[in-house]
Amino acid sequence: MRRAFITGITGQDGSYLAELLLGKGYEVHGLVRRASTLNRSRIDHLHAEDRLHLHYGDLTDGVSLVNLIHSIAPHEVYNLGAQSHVKVSFEMPEYTASADAVGTLRLLEAIRASGLGCRFYQASTSEMFGSTPPPQSEISAFRPRSPYGAAKLYSHWVTVNYREAYDLFAVSGILFNHESPRRGESFVTRKISLGVAAIKHGVTDHLHLGNLAAVRDWGYAKEYVEGMWQMLQRDEPEDFVLATGTGTTIRQFCETAFAHAGLNWEDHVRHDKQYERPTEVDALIGDPSRAHERLGWTARTTTDELARLMVDADLEAVGRLVRDRGVSPNLPL
Ligand code: NAP
Ligand code: GDD
Repeated sequence: MRRAFITGITGQDGSYLAELLLGKGYEVHGLVRRASTLNRSRIDHLHAEDRLHLHYGDLTDGVSLVNLIHSIAPHEVYNLGAQSHVKVSFEMPEYTASADAVGTLRLLEAIRASGLGCRFYQASTSEMFGSTPPPQSEISAFRPRSPYGAAKLYSHWVTVNYREAYDLFAVSGILFNHESPRRGESFVTRKISLGVAAIKHGVTDHLHLGNLAAVRDWGYAKEYVEGMWQMLQRDEPEDFVLATGTGTTIRQFCETAFAHAGLNWEDHVRHDKQYERPTEVDALIGDPSRAHERLGWTARTTTDELARLMVDADLEAVGRLVRDRGVSPNLPL
């Protein structure tokens, strides 16, 4: 039986990847952080699986990584764990560097020292392109505009270096934004879909957002984890961009999401400077040609379809909260 080790298993992508790998018959091991309350809601539905094992550890704690690689002896390692919020990285730059940059080095060192020869996937990001104009592909220049982007760029290059220096099967997936009903509530798409649902159910009347002009290339996370797995099944290691190839502004995303619930976004969205960043990435639109040609991977869900499916999921979820509790849910708006 193949064994996979996933850091970030409690996150959006980790939960979809765990489902995918369990469905393929893998034994799945996940790294979880100790918290004062359990935060495993995205993987709760998998707990009955006897092939799922969770282990305490942290990307900032090298000893835990060495011990886990040694005891699990995985065939595949997916490094999805990260402080993944760009705005927060300006407020916590040092922690972001430790988890998102040095954390990858710690994990790669644990793998190298183990001599196990496991395959390694690094969750690289379109945020590394920063101010490079679109379309961005595997050969575009990296010009990160945030502590998060800079930390991820270190991880990207150290992954390439471990591949070249130690002949590890180590690859980077350069993924453009991907979302789902499991997306963290403080990322803009989920904030909008939750906001639409809260407004529709009468919980609130408005939603505060920052820069509406930025362009992002938003796909459906469930499809992107398939690409991660495919990258590790190839004969030779290679880095790939995963994206839809289509750009949408935050404003357009709002329009689609609000209209789906029969609302006009301009009646409800208010500007709030606190959600703007010291430096913004203006436009990210990926060129996924290499992934089409060499992996056979393609994004199937459009950004508009994604906006509608997220709104549907939140209308249902917020409606249930309002009905069951009879009180306004405490939404992070
Ligand atoms: P997410 O929902 O924010 O999940 C992040 C995961 O990392 C969570 O499981 C979190 O654990 C864990 N984590 C945070 N700090 C950690 C640490 N110090 N040690 C160990 N684990 C830690 O992120 P996502 O959207 O699933 O993204 C997955 C990965 O892809 C991330 O590396 C992200 O930077 C990258 N990425 C995401 C996108 C995107 O659009 N979603 C695009 C490109 C790249 P807790 O649950 O305990 O907080
Ligand atoms: N979060 C947030 N909240 N973003 C807002 C808001 C708001 O209220 N208002 C406007 N925005 C704008 C941001 O300024 C940015 O231009 C855009 O919406 C998207 O912001 P996020 O959803 O936070 O995502 P991101 O693009 O910064 O980062 C995500 O994608 C990266 C890949 O490009 C994260 O998932 C990163 O981890 C990932 O690497």
